[in-house]
Amino acid sequence: MARRARWERFVEIIRTIADMQRLSQGWRRAGQRVGCVPTMGALHEGHLSLVREARRRADRVVVTIFVNPTQFGPKEDFGKYPRPFECDCALCEQEGVDAVFAPEPAVMYAPDATTWVVEEKLSQPLCGERRPGHFRGVTTVVAKLFNAVLPDVAVFGQKDAQQVLVLQRMARDLNFPVEVVVAPIVREADGLAMSSRNVYLSEDERTRALAISRGLEQARQAYAAGERRAERLCAPLRAAIGTACGRVDYVELRSRETLELLTTVDHPAVLAVAAFFGATRLIDNIFLD
Ligand code: PAJ
Repeated sequence: MARRARWERFVEIIRTIADMQRLSQGWRRAGQRVGCVPTMGALHEGHLSLVREARRRADRVVVTIFVNPTQFGPKEDFGKYPRPFECDCALCEQEGVDAVFAPEPAVMYAPDATTWVVEEKLSQPLCGERRPGHFRGVTTVVAKLFNAVLPDVAVFGQKDAQQVLVLQRMARDLNFPVEVVVAPIVREADGLAMSSRNVYLSEDERTRALAISRGLEQARQAYAAGERRAERLCAPLRAAIGTACGRVDYVELRSRETLELLTTVDHPAVLAVAAFFGATRLIDNIFLD
């Protein structure tokens, strides 16, 4: 037998759906609550904050690591998405994760699979409009991950604010017995929202990309000073990204519950942004209440 890397002795790595279900069912029979943190790997402090939140809410924590092909567009970065699997497992071990569920694509998708999970409203605007088919891939894979891990609670980040809204709606509409919890955005010291895609940025692009978090912070200050008009909150952010030679994909103020476009902040809102720096597409957002 090949020598096992150090982390393999501690974190259980599960590769098949049947093994994952068996493990989880055993815990559940013993009266333990199971928490799940779905990820695509390349773990950073943002992901680890979700693991800690899951720990607080469950007796056992499963991190899933699966770069899901069905949520990437044909021209997107599926092939080059970072996959530092050993490093991810070491981080999970340090965080006391009970199991890492890391299936191969062939385990998750039969070659002749023809069933999809589609949410039809919240997945339409913002990233749904710019990335056709993206949320269909996300809802389908998360439904499948829920059926493999059988969690009581699953934790997602506000970083992907639209994603978690879509997943909460899916869980409700399809009667998944899973509580979908949202955890706050974790940022680098200078404000940049942590993301597995930040490694694509050159040093120069990374510096310029700070226009996003700084612009959002300025919008928060304008809001605190009494500004309620959507355009007055969005326009300076768009301008700041332009000045930093970024390309705005969208900057929009929407209802935090329905994602309907708002012209004034008259109920809980999310100011959501997507922008390209070089070839890298970054997203970020703030809540305005
Ligand atoms: P991934 O981009 O790996 O993100 C996994 C989870 O980590 C998501 O819930 C995301 O919102 C959260 N996250 C990422 N960056 C964060 C940050 N800076 N602060 C807090 N949370 C952060 O999102 C996906 O994977 C996939 O779409 C997935 C749900 C796993 C389905 O394939």
